[in-house]
Amino acid sequence: MRFTLEVWTQASREEKGHFELYEVDEVDPEASFLEMLDLVNERLVLRGMRTIAFDSDCREGICGSCSLTIDGIPHGPNQVTTCQTYMRDFADGATIRVEPFRSANFPVLRDLVTDRGALDRVIQAGGYISTTTGPQPDPNAMPVSPEVQEQAMNAATCIGCGACVAACPNGAAMLFTGAKVTHLNLLPQGQVERAQRARSMVLAMDDEGFGGCTLYGECSRVCPQEISLDVIGMLNREYRRGARKQAA
Ligand code: SF4
Ligand code: FES
Repeated sequence: MRFTLEVWTQASREEKGHFELYEVDEVDPEASFLEMLDLVNERLVLRGMRTIAFDSDCREGICGSCSLTIDGIPHGPNQVTTCQTYMRDFADGATIRVEPFRSANFPVLRDLVTDRGALDRVIQAGGYISTTTGPQPDPNAMPVSPEVQEQAMNAATCIGCGACVAACPNGAAMLFTGAKVTHLNLLPQGQVERAQRARSMVLAMDDEGFGGCTLYGECSRVCPQEISLDVIGMLNREYRRGARKQAA
């Protein structure tokens, strides 16, 4: 396959960026989007030219490192991670626009690499899960109903990629934060910090400058883990619950 790529190029956080054109041919349709970029970079290296910087790690849809906006959509058209996007999903000869995740909270460090540390700081504000040390506790000592277990584990699949933030017209991080609060607050191990967790994380979101949620729903539509908007309702409920506890 053959493609024309319009790739965002930016030397550093301080510099202005622009789109650079690259022609790439002899691409295996079974190559992932990142493998296609590897191919472009290998050819640039052979010609002694500057390569394209982009993030990746697991390349299996697990770690949340990959973060490209492909044709205007965070992670591309298929609601899967960038690393799980394959070139067979594009028309032969297509022009594809490749940008970093776009958010005021994700400054571009170089080309397609952004600093998503703001999400880490929101997680840190949620405290720690208190765990029992010593002998492994009997599983029956901490019963969890199947419904709660399913809800918590679904939320726990959030990989922290930040596509939800990049897709949101408000730049909100509510889906991400809602997923973390739902995961941690529902399980027995998360009860110790439950009262203050949602409040602390929402304050951290505000401190970082993330926008507010007005239920556009774009976040959930691009989320590769299909995190439901329900977690935002859970976050709001937990926030109010925490505020009542602190007032009591
Ligand atoms: S909620 Fe979805 S889109 Fe947002 S960080 Fe988690 S996995 Fe990524
Ligand atoms: S590189 Fe790990 S999720 Fe894409």
